[in-house]
Amino acid sequence: MKILLLGSGGREHALAWKMAQSPACTALYIAPGNAGTAAHGTNVNIAVSDFEQIRAFCLEHQVDMLVPGSEEPLVKGVYDFFKADPALQHIPVIGPSAAGARLEGSKAFAKEFMLRHNIPTAAYREFSETSFDEGVAYLRQHTVPIVLKADGLAAGKGVVITSSHNEAVEEFKEMIRSAKFGDAGKKVVVEQFLTGIELSVFVLTDGKHYCILPTAKDYKRIGEGDTGLNTGGMGAVSPVPFAQGAFMQKVEDCIIRPTVEGLEKEGLEYQGFIFFGLINVEGDPYVIEYNCRMGDPETEVVIPRLQNDLLELFTAVQQQRLDQQTIHEDPRAAATVMLVSKGYPETYEKGKAITEVPAPTQEQLVFHAGTKAENGKVLTNGGRVLTVTSLASDLLSALTHSKQTAATIQFEGKYYRRDIGYEFVG
Ligand code: AMP
Ligand code: GLY
Repeated sequence: MKILLLGSGGREHALAWKMAQSPACTALYIAPGNAGTAAHGTNVNIAVSDFEQIRAFCLEHQVDMLVPGSEEPLVKGVYDFFKADPALQHIPVIGPSAAGARLEGSKAFAKEFMLRHNIPTAAYREFSETSFDEGVAYLRQHTVPIVLKADGLAAGKGVVITSSHNEAVEEFKEMIRSAKFGDAGKKVVVEQFLTGIELSVFVLTDGKHYCILPTAKDYKRIGEGDTGLNTGGMGAVSPVPFAQGAFMQKVEDCIIRPTVEGLEKEGLEYQGFIFFGLINVEGDPYVIEYNCRMGDPETEVVIPRLQNDLLELFTAVQQQRLDQQTIHEDPRAAATVMLVSKGYPETYEKGKAITEVPAPTQEQLVFHAGTKAENGKVLTNGGRVLTVTSLASDLLSALTHSKQTAATIQFEGKYYRRDIGYEFVG
């Protein structure tokens, strides 16, 4: 089977590493990929949303399956593009249709979907220019903290949480009237603030059945102790110690099953990953957000713990027989620590030489994120540069091993958090 994987982050490196191990994989292409993905297949210089070039490549190389790593091509309709084209429609796309991807692409759509299917989530109201004054009045009497969310995709930056009514009104105004997040913020969801520990739950669905993958928790803030600016993610652990037994039963019964059934009932084609961003509020799970893809850096701990053949799972998705698959999890704990460029998530420099990257072992893998190969060297090429994943019998050992390697890998301006997983190993 010839696979084309779309993306260039640590998530895609982990997916490429995993798919290349499948006996069914005869060729793996990664567009555009990074210096790490090149070890498992062929990087192709095509942007993830250039559907015409993706089409031409698939035809020329007789690609058998398309695996989009990030949300962008899915929200833009790559699934529908393939289904509508007689030359491409035999190629399965692992991901939802554009209609299904709205679970991630529109916060308002996701909230309405949850309401329709009685899925627990924070109480909310939705406002736009036409209801601007009503929105301001609503914010003024809202209990603090107040959560404001731009409706559309805003590169992970569209959520503002504030403890001041004035600041909430200011943000609201900037989103709706000054297009702070472009068109994404023309509609704003105002949400009740929930208190608890967040976690990420992933399922793979074929549209009728689903498999639950290992759980994970990521760490989004740049600073230790969860302080400072939000990032794409600074590290992750798997499994999440409290995500078991009665809690996971509630997640499945109240969230996962109603979501998959709701998608099917509403005719929203969805054959791919669903990422449930959840929060544990005193033992009860609530949905904070849906994503239509795997998480990054969660993938870098979830996929190494997945013992199944990933291409066999994807084939079962295509054939709608995921009910015949059983997920096998590595009993070991996994931790990943992200190494980032100085200045990230604000401005940073690129092109720094990376050295002292250890070879992969059974206990440790280094996944590349923002890297590129040039003249035999590996250079930094993004804010998140690479992530060190370790597997061990206990989480503390995995974290310790990752941090030791994070300390030895060298590039100018390297920064990483040393407190990933802190609440579980304290
Ligand atoms: P999102 O982009 O929806 O994942 O939101 C970004 C982050 O904001 C989440 O990971 C949470 O930490 C936080 N957040 C979002 N919604 C809420 C909420 N209703 N209550 C508390 N925190 C929230
Ligand atoms: N790590 C969070 C995300 O991928 O959205």
